[in-house]
Amino acid sequence: MKAVLAIYPGSFDPVTNGHLDLIGRGAKIFDRLVVAVLRNMEKDPLFSVSERLEMLREVTQPWPNVEVDVFEGLLMDYARHKNAQVVLRGIRAISDYEYELQMALMNRKLEPRIETVFMMPAEAYSYLSSRLVREIARLGGSVKDLVPPAVEERLKAKVA
Ligand code: PNS
Repeated sequence: MKAVLAIYPGSFDPVTNGHLDLIGRGAKIFDRLVVAVLRNMEKDPLFSVSERLEMLREVTQPWPNVEVDVFEGLLMDYARHKNAQVVLRGIRAISDYEYELQMALMNRKLEPRIETVFMMPAEAYSYLSSRLVREIARLGGSVKDLVPPAVEERLKAKVA
């Protein structure tokens, strides 16, 4: 039987408990899951790509079938290069759906052999986003329960 490799792409600036929830769900149903951080020159990130990779590697240690990587350019080129069959994306609410549908269909146009699979994180994370986490941390609020402790420490150090 063929092993299924899924790519979970994103900015992960920083990784949140919502991302981790999805990684746990993905790791259960796919043989291998590659969490792939986009190296995006246009965005002005809070954490550098290497900091994001470091945090992701630390917090995904419990899952032996999860790897962390970085990619640039088109996601479909990267997924093809990795021989992946699936792209995993999370949908929190209806508001995510339109953008995700557009991206999934465009990705299918670019590479019809790769399927986008959507999973829902636990509802406790339905309002959680990296953008809000960055904003709360910058303004001195608590991000406990929103991000793993290792990320909370890094956020504190970053905005201190
Ligand atoms: O976590 P994000 O920022 O919502 O992730 C968006 C991401 C990285 C999945 C998306 O921007 C992406 O795949 N970018 C790579 C460039 C690409 O393939 N663009 C065409 C998408 S249809």
